[in-house]
Amino acid sequence: MSKGRPPVTVAPSVQLGGAPERLRERADPCTMIIFGASGDLSRRKLMPALYKLAVDNLLDEDFAFLGVAREAMTDEQYRELMRTELEKSEGFTTLDEGAWSWLASRMWYSSADFANPDTFPAIIEKLALIDKPQADATNHLFYLAVPPSVFPATVSNLAASGLMQRTPSSSDRPWSRIVVEKPFGRSLDTALELNALLLDRVGEHQVYRIDHYLGKEAVQNILVFRFANSIFEPLWNREYISHVQITAAESVGVETRGKYYEEAGVVRDMFQNHLLQLLTLAAMEPPIAIEADAVRDEKVKVLRSLRPLVHDGQAAAVRAQYVAGKQAPDAAGYRSEQGVAADSVTPTFAAMRLAIDNWRWKGVPFFLRSGKRLKQRKSEIVIQFKSPPHMIFGEAETGHVPPGLLTMRVQPREGIALRFQVKTPGTVHELTPGFETTPVEMDFCYQDAFGETPNSAYETLLLDTMLGDATLFTRSDEVETAWRVMDPLIQLWSDRPAPEMPTYGAGSWGPTEADALLTDELPGARWL
Ligand code: NDP
Ligand code: BG6
Repeated sequence: MSKGRPPVTVAPSVQLGGAPERLRERADPCTMIIFGASGDLSRRKLMPALYKLAVDNLLDEDFAFLGVAREAMTDEQYRELMRTELEKSEGFTTLDEGAWSWLASRMWYSSADFANPDTFPAIIEKLALIDKPQADATNHLFYLAVPPSVFPATVSNLAASGLMQRTPSSSDRPWSRIVVEKPFGRSLDTALELNALLLDRVGEHQVYRIDHYLGKEAVQNILVFRFANSIFEPLWNREYISHVQITAAESVGVETRGKYYEEAGVVRDMFQNHLLQLLTLAAMEPPIAIEADAVRDEKVKVLRSLRPLVHDGQAAAVRAQYVAGKQAPDAAGYRSEQGVAADSVTPTFAAMRLAIDNWRWKGVPFFLRSGKRLKQRKSEIVIQFKSPPHMIFGEAETGHVPPGLLTMRVQPREGIALRFQVKTPGTVHELTPGFETTPVEMDFCYQDAFGETPNSAYETLLLDTMLGDATLFTRSDEVETAWRVMDPLIQLWSDRPAPEMPTYGAGSWGPTEADALLTDELPGARWL
């Protein structure tokens, strides 16, 4: 019988004595051109990732960087701005002056409006100075870190300028690649248009559609955990799994990105990409090899097996918006955030139930939730196992024994925890002949086991783009299939803007309607 004691942590289960020597390939020589180089993504994620690659000596001696945005700045002002931002970035400790000078000496800035083709000659001129003396032989990596509404014009003008050209195959040199940030379009139609535009100008092998969740160490570990071990795979199906919960919760609000978020909302911002990626990795069949197309083929099959979210004008989904709440007294409500309309009906939280109609998962619900200004930052996949068919221990018969849980933590404390029942030492239930049981947890934490923080997602992904490894990027059919899943829900909600948008207090775990989504189907279940 469980008395609801706090789980006992039996960790770490491995003692590795520090991080093993890792072999990481050095990037190809290239000039990287970031469009949107003064924006939030460039400051907070891309520059720290480039700096870390420089510290780890993974950039080529001939690496160069050109940042482009509308704001007028000199090269030196841009370098200063990036240094200041780097020193403010998450997890930053002390500046490695050697690595910074190395990077800064290869860093340039040019001002241009990507919607205006007339400004591209200035970029070409600057590149000619940077790329020299072998401009024709330089590999180019174009990175679209601009608002999604600017993607099409940037791609068109970039191709028209002659800077980005089609190459017949991935082995051609010099290479020319384009990284496109998410959300890739704002609907299925716009994603189809953007794919058509890109593939009219370059080959699929040149396009890297980024979803930074795929660059997270713990997300890649889902594949290793599932397919490098034979322990869990036989249980990974409808026979043993009751349901799956996938959470991407953030404690922050929309910060400085209110304008972007008003256009996006939580479904475009998090579900169409990050949450569906987590779902596909948790649910996919084993790929024939860890190769880009083999992995992507299996992920697409999962997306194609998802039952339509909207049926007869109804969806098993809940939306809500945060308001000021006593659990986070300093946090403003969404409608008071900078760049947000006072009567906005943009959801900042959603929860939904998805069903995968295939042999493995028939009848196993997948519950997904994500939101801003929630109680805690955590992203994880929880597999809840079924209870044994016949329980012989005390109150277990009445269903009070907590079920077995496998939690794959994406962040924070990247790792895996397994909860199971053990006999409570020295106890025998007073009234029944059964034993008293207690849930305990075995916990693997990357940092404890390997003694280091995993690489940032952008560090991994930037290196992959420079090496031409597309395994962790999404293919055109994958991104389109993901829109096919989410578009009907976005449409349903925009056709019926909630007159009274359901709300949740900042610092809470979201609206109570999200709890009902679970309990309506699984009485007694709760979000974990
Ligand atoms: P910001 O609005 O902060 O930055 C946009 C950048 O694009 C600025 O440098 C801006 O420069 C430039 N820009 C915009 N329009 C033009 C134009 N017409 N011509 C030239 N430059 C232009 O956006 P974010 O950095 O937040 O986001 C960029 C992309 O990254 C988006 O697709 C977003 O969804 C994605 N993303 C962002 C994340 C984040 O944490 N920020 C995380 C994951 C993805 P200027 O003001 O000088 O015009
Ligand atoms: C981005 C979203 O893609 O992911 C942001 O645009 C969100 O709104 C971010 O904050 C979350 O990423 P992470 O790595 O902090 O979970």
